[in-house]
Amino acid sequence: MGGATAIGFSRHIPGAFITVTAKHQETLKRYSEAGMSATLDNAEAVRDADVVVMAVKPWLLKDVLTPLLGLLSGKTLVSLAAGIPAESLREWLEGTGVNGIYTVIPNLAIEIGESMTFINEVSGTEETLKIVTGLFEAVGKAMVVEERQLWAGMMVASCGTAFALRYVRAATEGGVELGLYPNQALEAALQTVKGAAALSEARGTHPEQEIDRVTTPGGITIRGLNAMEEAGFSNAVIQGLKIHR
Ligand SMILES: NC(=O)c1ccc[n+]([C@@H]2O[C@H](COP(=O)([O-])OP(=O)(O)OC[C@H]3O[C@@H](n4cnc5c(N)ncnc54)[C@H](OP(=O)(O)O)[C@@H]3O)[C@@H](O)[C@H]2O)c1
Repeated sequence: MGGATAIGFSRHIPGAFITVTAKHQETLKRYSEAGMSATLDNAEAVRDADVVVMAVKPWLLKDVLTPLLGLLSGKTLVSLAAGIPAESLREWLEGTGVNGIYTVIPNLAIEIGESMTFINEVSGTEETLKIVTGLFEAVGKAMVVEERQLWAGMMVASCGTAFALRYVRAATEGGVELGLYPNQALEAALQTVKGAAALSEARGTHPEQEIDRVTTPGGITIRGLNAMEEAGFSNAVIQGLKIHR
């Protein structure tokens, strides 16, 4: 996720100076080849940064952060670690002089500037919030939410990337069964999902309004939808979103 974020920022924020760190030299190659500064030394990267984005696994965050605490004064810290409570971040960073602390949940489409990103302000000022929202608005849509809403945001938008692509896979398989070649079916499924989302967004409509426009009474679309619902389509999606933490 950190890699996708760095690539997204480098492609979509002109003039951004980005330093990427990792645990292994091998990981850094991709970023230095893309023109970013890259180092294995976290402290070196943090020293000159205005905004520090932490993108390690949640259970590593405290250990990776601890040696950097003395370097965070006046900087803004963004944590991508899902599930770390604001209270823990506040406690770990107390007394460091950090300007702002944010939990941010982007999704993988950040790499191509199409993320749906949720931002929770743990602490900060009007200015730091503006900086953080500005960064993530440059790589898609960004929504500032309360901490209690982060989980829902992650399920709908981060895990949602996988859920949406599973629909695309199913539609592709169905298309092949009906006679399309796999590449034709995949292209058609992807473009249809893209077009449907763009249509609903551009017209500002509820999805059901667009569905009504294509469901001729007694026609095949409504029969297809009803067959999908009989097999549990909407319920399966909602159940998938509501899995326990
Ligand atoms: N997947 C999503 O859709 C998503 C969405 C939102 C948020 N997140 C959050 O993003 C975070 C990263 O998840 P991920 O799946 O991308 O993890 P990941 O693939 O394991 O990547 C973690 C990266 O951290 C680096 N790293 C590990 N220890 C380090 C250290 N001591 N110093 C510097 N770098 C270090 C690793 O470097 P090496 O490659 O060299 O080992 C690796 O590149 C998690 O906290 C997750 O909750 C994920």
